[in-house]
Amino acid sequence: MRQRSIKSRDLILEECGDWLEKAPEFCKGRWRGLFGREDAPLFLEIGSGKGRFICSMASRHPEQLFLACEGGSNIAIRILQKCKAQELANLRVIRAYADDLSAFFEDGELDGIFINFCDPWPKARHARRRLTHRRMLEQYRRAVKPGGYLRFKTDNDGLFDFSLEEFAAAGLAPAAVTRDLHASPFAAENIMTEYEERFSAEGKNINYAEILF
Ligand SMILES: C[S@@+](CC[C@H](N)C(=O)[O-])C[C@H]1O[C@@H](n2cnc3c(N)ncnc32)[C@H](O)[C@@H]1O
Repeated sequence: MRQRSIKSRDLILEECGDWLEKAPEFCKGRWRGLFGREDAPLFLEIGSGKGRFICSMASRHPEQLFLACEGGSNIAIRILQKCKAQELANLRVIRAYADDLSAFFEDGELDGIFINFCDPWPKARHARRRLTHRRMLEQYRRAVKPGGYLRFKTDNDGLFDFSLEEFAAAGLAPAAVTRDLHASPFAAENIMTEYEERFSAEGKNINYAEILF
């Protein structure tokens, strides 16, 4: 069984290899050139899961460029399959855990970052691992150009409270905050992620914040 699954994974990687960026550190400062689109806005999603959100964004906005960063190597394969099925010319997949964005991006290289339903790391001693910890916010501030944004969604109210505190500690005032995204004016443009669909079907409110850098 194991052999077969490794074989099929290798086959998928071969078929969808055009969408996988195997050496993201060598793309630092050159991402737009990789797409042959030097003037296009460039957006990153961290923790894309199976990729429904970022693939829908890429399909909805062909004039923009997108990077899906997903650390789970088998999960990232699901994004690659979607890219191929939709023949998305404006999306690449980074199969890595984002920890030091300066390894992949020049200062100001990105127009925006999306973080959707990231792992909450509920234990206090793991707070530094949360993607909205001030350690990460400082990285986002460097990687995103002035005027660019961070958009953050979560079902986890505790993580959202923590994130608002971290934004304040980092001197970042949210341009938008809602505890009920789906009942807010932002719902019209919203693209649901896999997790979002599951949580909202259970009646859970979805928290949303946007930071402008
Ligand atoms: C809870 S899932 C949410 C997936 C998706 N965003 C959604 O809303 O359906 C979080 C995902 O983030 C990935 N992840 C966690 N930390 C990451 C990091 N530092 N860099 C990239 N991916 C990460 C995990 O492997 C997992 O697939």
